[in-house]
Amino acid sequence: MDTQEYDLGVVRYFAVMTIVWGVVGMLVGLLIAGQLAWPALNFDLPFLSYGRLRPLHTNAVIFAFGGCALMASAFYIVQKTCRTRLISSGLAWFVFWGWQLVILSAAITLPLGITTSKEYAELEWPIDVLIAIVWVAFAIVFFGTIGIRKEKHIYVANWFFGALIIGVAILHIFNSLALPVSFLKSYSIYAGTKDAMMQWWYGHNAVGFFLTAGFLGIMYYFVPKQAGRPVYSYRLSIVHFWALIAVYVWAGPHHLHYTSLPDWAQSLGMVMSLVLIAPSWGGMINGIMTLSGAWDKLRTDPIIKFLIVSLSFYGMSTFEGPMMSIKTINALSHNTDWTVGHVHSGALGWVAMVSMGAMYHLIPSLFGRKPGEMYSVKLINLHFWLATIGTVFYIASMWVNGLLQGLMWRALSVDGTLTYSFAEAVEASYPGYYARFLGGAIFFAGMCVMAYNVFMTIRGKTRAEKAAPATPLVAATGA
Ligand code: HEM
Ligand code: HEM
Repeated sequence: MDTQEYDLGVVRYFAVMTIVWGVVGMLVGLLIAGQLAWPALNFDLPFLSYGRLRPLHTNAVIFAFGGCALMASAFYIVQKTCRTRLISSGLAWFVFWGWQLVILSAAITLPLGITTSKEYAELEWPIDVLIAIVWVAFAIVFFGTIGIRKEKHIYVANWFFGALIIGVAILHIFNSLALPVSFLKSYSIYAGTKDAMMQWWYGHNAVGFFLTAGFLGIMYYFVPKQAGRPVYSYRLSIVHFWALIAVYVWAGPHHLHYTSLPDWAQSLGMVMSLVLIAPSWGGMINGIMTLSGAWDKLRTDPIIKFLIVSLSFYGMSTFEGPMMSIKTINALSHNTDWTVGHVHSGALGWVAMVSMGAMYHLIPSLFGRKPGEMYSVKLINLHFWLATIGTVFYIASMWVNGLLQGLMWRALSVDGTLTYSFAEAVEASYPGYYARFLGGAIFFAGMCVMAYNVFMTIRGKTRAEKAAPATPLVAATGA
C-alpha cells in the first residue's frame, strides 16, 4: 500500500509535539533539579516554587512528551499493520487538538497552584472531564481502525496499545471520581485508606499501562523494523502480554508499605511485584534477542543503540522495582532519593530512550525521507551518548543519596537516640543533587541536539521541495 494512502498528517503533528514537549518537560525537570541543589532558584515567586513546578514536570514529561510519542506511534502503527487508513481523520485531529488543550490547561493551572494533590492525577475536574472525552475519541479511532483492517492478523504491538487505551481509561475515570465544589475545586469521593489504595492502584498502573504497555507497543514495532528482522519469538510476545496485564493490576500496594492499609494487601502487592519480573524480562529478552544475528548493527546504527539500550534500562528498572517492593528493602528505600533514581532509570533510560529511537526512525519517513534518514547521523550518535551518560549520572547519584538518607535516618546511637537530625541528612545529600543536576543537564543537552536534528530534517525537505518538487531527497547530508 502506498504511503499516500495512509493518514499521516496527524501522526506528523504528534511526532513534532513529542520533541517540543520533550524539551519543555525536561527543562522544567532541570529547573527543579537545580532548585534542590540551589534553593534560591525559585526566585521567591509562587509560580516558580518547587511544589508547583514538580507536578508540572511530571505531567509534561509523562503525558505531554510520553503521551504524544504514544499517540503518534499508535496512529502510525495501527494503520501500517492493519493496512488501512484511520477510520476517521476528523476524530484523530480532535484527539490531537484535545490533547494539546489538556497539556495547555495543565501548564496554566499547575503553576497557579490549582491541584487535586493526587500524584500524577493533579489536574482539576474540568480538565479530567476533557481528558476522558479525548481518551474515548482516541479509543474510537484506534479500535475503529482495527475494526476496518485489511489484514486478518492483529499485530502484537496493537494489543499493547489496546491495553494502554482500555487500562488508562478505567484508571483515570475511577481514580478521578470527585465532588466538584466550584469550577476549579473538587474533593475525591474516596477517603482515608481507601483513597490511598485507589490512588496507588492508579499510580502503579499508570506505570504499568502508560509507561510500560504503550512503550512496549512502540518497541514491538520499531525494534524489528529498525533491525530489519522479525520479532525473536512471537509466541513469547503473546505470553508476556497476557502475563503483564494480569499481574500489574495487583502490585499497587507496594507503594503503601507500613501504612494503615491491611497487612495482607501489602504482602499481596509485594508478591505480585516479584512475580512481575517474569513478564517484564520476557518482553526485554524478546526485544533484545530480535537483534540476534545482526548484532553488528549495534556498532553502526545509533537508532538501534537507542532501542537496545532502552530495553536494557527497562530490564534494570523492572528488576530494581520488585526488589524495592520487598518490605524490608522498602523500609530503607521509601521516601529517599532511591525511589527517584528508580523512577528515572525507567523514565530516562526506558521511556525517553525508546521514544527517541522510535522518533528517529519515524520522523524522516513522515517528512518524505527513508525511515531513519535524519539530517545528521553523527548528531544521533552524539545524542545517544549524551542520553546514556546523563541517565547513568542521574541514577547513580540518586542511588548514593538514597542509601545515604535511608541509613542516616535509621542510625541509632548507643543510648538509643537518633544519631543524625533530618537536616544533617539533607546537608549530606547536596553532592548527589549537584551530580544529578549535571546528569540532567547532559540528558537535556541531548534532547536539544535531537530537536535541532529534527528541525533540520524537516527543513531540508521543505528546501528540497521548493528547489525540485518531484525529486526525492538525497541521503543524509551531515553524516
Ligand atoms: C532532563 C531530564 C530530567 C530531569 C533533570 C528530571 C528531574 C526531576 C526531578 C528533580 C524530580 C523531583 C525529584 C524529587 O522530588 O526529589 C523529578 C521527578 C520525576 N520525574 Fe523527572 N527529570 C527528567 C526527565 C524525566 C522524564 C523524561 C520522565 C518521564 C518520562 C520523568 C519523570 C519523573 C517522575 C515520574 C517524577 C516523580 C518521581 C517520584 O515521585 O518519585 N522525568 N524529575
Ligand atoms: C516490575 C516492575 C516494577 C516494579 C515491581 C516497581 C516497583 C516500585 C516500587 C516498590 C516503588 C517504590 C514505592 C515507594 O517506596 O514509594 C516504585 C516507585 C516508582 N516506580 Fe516502579 N517498579 C517497576 C517498574 C517501573 C518502571 C519501568 C517505571 C517507569 C517507567 C517505574 C516508575 C515508578 C515511579 C514513577 C515510581 C514513583 C512513584 C511515586 O512515589 O511517585 N517503575 N516502583
